[in-house]
Amino acid sequence: MSSKRLYIKTFGCQMNVHDSERISGLLREEGYRLTEKPDEADMIIVNTCNIREKSEQKAYSDLGRFAMLKRDRPGLILGMAGCVAQKDGEKVLKRYKGLDLVFGSSNIENVPQMLRTITLTARPVVMVEEPPGPPKTTPADRKDRIRAWVSIMEGCDRHCAFCVVPVTRGRERSRLSAEIVQEVSHLAEAGYKEITLLGQTVNSYGKNLDEGLDFADLLRMLDAVDGIERIRFMSPHPSDMTPKLIETMAELPKVCEFLHLPLQSGSDDVLKRMGRGYTLNEYRRTIGYFRRLVPDMAFSTDIIIGFPGESEDDFQKTLDAVAEFDYDNVYYFPYSQRPNTPAAQWEGQIPDEVKNARFARLSALEKALAREKNQRLIGGVQEVLVEDRSKRDQAKLTGRTRSNKLVHFEGPDREIGRLIPVRITSASATFLEGVGLQGAVLER
Ligand code: 5AD
Repeated sequence: MSSKRLYIKTFGCQMNVHDSERISGLLREEGYRLTEKPDEADMIIVNTCNIREKSEQKAYSDLGRFAMLKRDRPGLILGMAGCVAQKDGEKVLKRYKGLDLVFGSSNIENVPQMLRTITLTARPVVMVEEPPGPPKTTPADRKDRIRAWVSIMEGCDRHCAFCVVPVTRGRERSRLSAEIVQEVSHLAEAGYKEITLLGQTVNSYGKNLDEGLDFADLLRMLDAVDGIERIRFMSPHPSDMTPKLIETMAELPKVCEFLHLPLQSGSDDVLKRMGRGYTLNEYRRTIGYFRRLVPDMAFSTDIIIGFPGESEDDFQKTLDAVAEFDYDNVYYFPYSQRPNTPAAQWEGQIPDEVKNARFARLSALEKALAREKNQRLIGGVQEVLVEDRSKRDQAKLTGRTRSNKLVHFEGPDREIGRLIPVRITSASATFLEGVGLQGAVLER
């Protein structure tokens, strides 16, 4: 049987990127193979994101473009997946006549069944209902051969006033631990060296299961899988960073010395109105405990700029907090009013000019911090998991340190997939360069 071609366009977070790998993995079993060219595809899926308004607009404009392709190729199957699909459901069908398939992220496991229904009935299918029970294990068509994403839970039970995720990804549902361990064991057998566990609030794993396990217990189970060298996860919620979890992370050798811990704001008043559930001081205690147990721990964070009612004083507190916590990376976003979220209706919306000016100030601080942090590593030796040849310079290999920093250095192909000690010789704000110390023994 000749294979059919599938083109997937993905917007948004790592969860979405991995969801696309799962959609493609399931459709592979239905005879589809990925193509890079929408013009030659038999099926096109736009996997959408609506965390901020811009990403939603981009997804819709792409969908419109792909719907035009259908005029010349009526047999083309056109689908919309992800968070916009979940939120707009049937409404999308009215807007785009050519659509065949609309489904939310919790319905990925139903893709083969939906495809069969379309083929049988020649009518569009919409599926945005959460299926009962824990999310099912699905195959995934992973592009990378060394690092793998593993989804351990879906949805979110928190209700941050700015965030659309509870509307688009549903209630929190954890996968069964045995299925996660099995997936990771298979990845290790296939030669994968690093896993990144994914979930909207990844460290509240297990709360809705009756297995009696929490996230720290899951980390311990995965640390024992032979062949896997590194474990990362994202994104945790500060309120679920329990002392047990911090101590477990410090103890387990494969869990990397890197944590992305979204702060969102440095002002207690703003944090309270966001409904984040922690104060700056509580967050500070978490960082402090980590630094005591793991002195070289690297942190990154997310900040929202211009949340409704954010005063100059509130914003200054955010700048102070960013400097105090000495982050290795800061991701910052101007606040975007999302439909059906509480803060979208509040008074005190911040004008764009103010948001832009604050954005520029945080950006300058972040760049200075990142460069300075990286420069502190010059002269030292870092363990690098080599991923590939560098795209910018074929003579060089590229990989990441345990603290998640990109490193380029010269070396042979056989080092791809291996852990190599590298002496760091130069640093910019976004990457390091160094010299491979092949044959040297790394001490941890
Ligand atoms: N506006 C701006 N940024 C947002 N984020 C989530 N919702 C919004 C919003 N409405 C940011 C948060 C979150 C990251 C993934 O996106 O900082 O941690």
